[in-house]
Amino acid sequence: MNVAVIGTGYVGLVTGACLAEMGHVVTCVDKDADKVKRLSRGEPTIFETGLESCLSAGLSQGRLSFTTDTASAVAAADLVFIAVGTPPGPDGHADLSQVITAAREIAGALRGFTVVVTKSTVPVGTGDSIEALIRASRPDADVAVASNPEFLREGAALSDCRRPDRIVLGAEDARAHALLKDLYDPLIRGGAPVLFTSRRSAELIKYAANGFLAVKIAFINEIADLCQALGADIDAVATGVGMDGRIGPGCLRPGPGYGGSCFPKDTLALAHSAEAAGRPLKVVRAAMQANAARKSALAKRVAAELGGLQDRVVALLGLTFKAHTDDLRDSPALDLARALVDAHAVVRAHDPQGMDQAAIMAPELEMCADPHAAAWGADALVIVTEWPQFADLDLGRLKRAMRGATIIDLRNLLDPAAARAHGFTYVDLGRGGRESRTCDASPARAEGQGGALP
Ligand code: UDX
Repeated sequence: MNVAVIGTGYVGLVTGACLAEMGHVVTCVDKDADKVKRLSRGEPTIFETGLESCLSAGLSQGRLSFTTDTASAVAAADLVFIAVGTPPGPDGHADLSQVITAAREIAGALRGFTVVVTKSTVPVGTGDSIEALIRASRPDADVAVASNPEFLREGAALSDCRRPDRIVLGAEDARAHALLKDLYDPLIRGGAPVLFTSRRSAELIKYAANGFLAVKIAFINEIADLCQALGADIDAVATGVGMDGRIGPGCLRPGPGYGGSCFPKDTLALAHSAEAAGRPLKVVRAAMQANAARKSALAKRVAAELGGLQDRVVALLGLTFKAHTDDLRDSPALDLARALVDAHAVVRAHDPQGMDQAAIMAPELEMCADPHAAAWGADALVIVTEWPQFADLDLGRLKRAMRGATIIDLRNLLDPAAARAHGFTYVDLGRGGRESRTCDASPARAEGQGGALP
């Protein structure tokens, strides 16, 4: 099948590369000629595990190409994916200007029966608007407009694309449903469940899924704080809660608050469109408020441990909004870093992937080549992003490098007993109960020799 993908951002690029891998002939379109040149040489423009090899396979097999020419890509396509950005507008609604521009350009170039598919996360009814726009400008065109939302996690986008939890196909036209089903046939034959819905339902599934996951994270973060207050262990509580088949184990890791390119933007757009429809989503609004409050209180948590921030040196480990990405959008780490600097602390930061971009966005931070360099002379070490290498730090070396002895672990990465055994004052999220429980019940642990939980 011939496919055009408009937009080579995160979603467009990963989708295009995966569709080529499935055997389709894919042309990805972007207005940025420089980006098109780089991608045509097989250079990924984003950091994503496995993307480089997927790109080079598609290019060398002649199934994947990049162009700035929308018209030729659309004219040759059976399906055209719109995968452009939908950033938040000033009042929180999704700004659809890039989607509308893409739809106009697509309309002018349509040849033969074509399915235009929104991959971008768009408010309910956007498919109707795209269809009306195309029909008004090209009454002769044989076209169907569908919604096929993406559910890609940054850092795991290729595996999410290859092994999706579900494929949602929303359309009003049976031909569109059939063509999309054929497109995804390799995944469907591999066991991926498919859900055929109306276009509006598909559009809402994406927002509702992200809204629900955001609620889950905001909830577990509050439960972690409660564990801390009550002496329970969040790991045990989250595991026990997640074992309920109705709840499931995902998105139950406490942290500094959710960030990234999707949850903050999508919850805002969802809440906005629900209010516009006269059906406010109080639960989603509460999660948004809880998350914002959590992020803005992080600097106070650090200040409380250090007895103030003036002239304190803080080693900040992690700048990206989560591990395995170079993305800094809405990153709690960056918010925390800026708040610490505003309170006259010195921030020495390290991140395996995000430092180049962070140096531009937050030049007031001192970027350090590795965690030990960041820890040099620090009063406290704060782990904000769950990069696996931060779980393997040489605690003895860190202790010698620092002038203070406080570790604030906002991802529960370290072993509390090991950190305390090295003489650190160790603060985590809701695992306070674990140490006293293991100390009481396991003499081996109490003596610092490790040992299983009772
Ligand atoms: C998300 C959705 O998961 C994906 O389906 C959607 O299409 C795009 O948005 P992404 O933003 O890449 O993907 O990352 P995700 O892994 O879902 O994490 C989002 C945020 O929640 C991050 O800040 C992460 O640190 C945080 N998070 C996630 C937690 O704090 N705890 C968790 O248990 C899971």
